[in-house]
Amino acid sequence: MAVTDTSTQMPHFSSFLAPHAHLGMGSWHLGQGRRSWDEEKRALLTGLQLGLTLIDTAEMYGDGLSEELIGDVLRDWPASQPQPFLVSKVLPMNASRNGVMRAFEASAYKLGVDCIDLYLLHWRGNTPLAETVAALEALKVQGKIRHWGVSNFDTDDMQELWEVPGGRNCVVNQVLYNVFSRGIEYDLLPWCVQHGVTVMAYCPLGHGELVGESLLAEIGERHGVNASVVALAWALRSGHVVAIPESGSSEHVRDNARALQLKLDAQDLAQIDKASPAPLHKQPLDQIDKASPAPLHKQPLDIL
Ligand SMILES: NC(=O)c1ccc[n+]([C@@H]2O[C@H](COP(=O)([O-])OP(=O)(O)OC[C@H]3O[C@@H](n4cnc5c(N)ncnc54)[C@H](OP(=O)(O)O)[C@@H]3O)[C@@H](O)[C@H]2O)c1
Repeated sequence: MAVTDTSTQMPHFSSFLAPHAHLGMGSWHLGQGRRSWDEEKRALLTGLQLGLTLIDTAEMYGDGLSEELIGDVLRDWPASQPQPFLVSKVLPMNASRNGVMRAFEASAYKLGVDCIDLYLLHWRGNTPLAETVAALEALKVQGKIRHWGVSNFDTDDMQELWEVPGGRNCVVNQVLYNVFSRGIEYDLLPWCVQHGVTVMAYCPLGHGELVGESLLAEIGERHGVNASVVALAWALRSGHVVAIPESGSSEHVRDNARALQLKLDAQDLAQIDKASPAPLHKQPLDQIDKASPAPLHKQPLDIL
């Protein structure tokens, strides 16, 4: 099953996200000293000013430091401006009924908010899905989250989720997707589009490996942009995917925001298809190792 333009089948795709752009910002390594706190804060504020108003974080990122940095950004963001759409995640080890409640309270405290727009199960663990879904639904009823979703769920996981009471209220599946990791196009992306689940692409820049990639740079040259912009425009090209590149640099965030204006043409897409064809068979879902950033099921990005 190859991905096609199914927008006519899914008129309400991503409607819960409106009016937020389909390009957001990740934060896995932010707030942890790679750059100064203030520089990374400025980068996120720059993104918000440019309309990248979705920010992705997780209790796992820097053991809460990423959420604290984002909380600091939110305090500096004017109340008169459109408010960011916040995404955070609960770890599988906290996915029990009580664990979800405790994890939510800790994340909300660090972010300095009463309500998180979208709360995801970071990946599947040992807690039965039904228990986690019940906890997420309870948070929704209490007005503590607006929506919930999952992450790193392959098609069979989604099918299982669909059979759980309340499981069909899942609005997002956040998965690894980029120019050189296209496995989800075979079945997971079409399944999500057909079932009204927004796909949120993590590692859209291949964890940084794509920012200097030669083919993307060549395509970018024709459009007056760099390789990162091409990689992001490619991820967004169907209109069915939200991408969350991470950067702690205002300059890089400014670059990345240009992807919202870039429409790749037939020649660009054909060149990319030739270098990295769409999948013809089911491929296991790529995931990034939580401890070390190497894709688990595929070749390392540095040999691409
Ligand atoms: N759900 C999950 O299991 C999961 C797993 C992984 C990631 N995520 C989420 O997805 C987000 C993005 O994934 P990722 O951080 O792994 O990888 P990524 O966004 O593909 O790449 C990030 C890297 O690219 C660099 N970069 C970004 N824009 C650039 C530009 N314009 N020019 C040059 N370099 C640039 C960044 O460095 P600089 O800071 O120097 O710009 C950083 O090293 C994460 O932050 C996290 O929020 C979720």
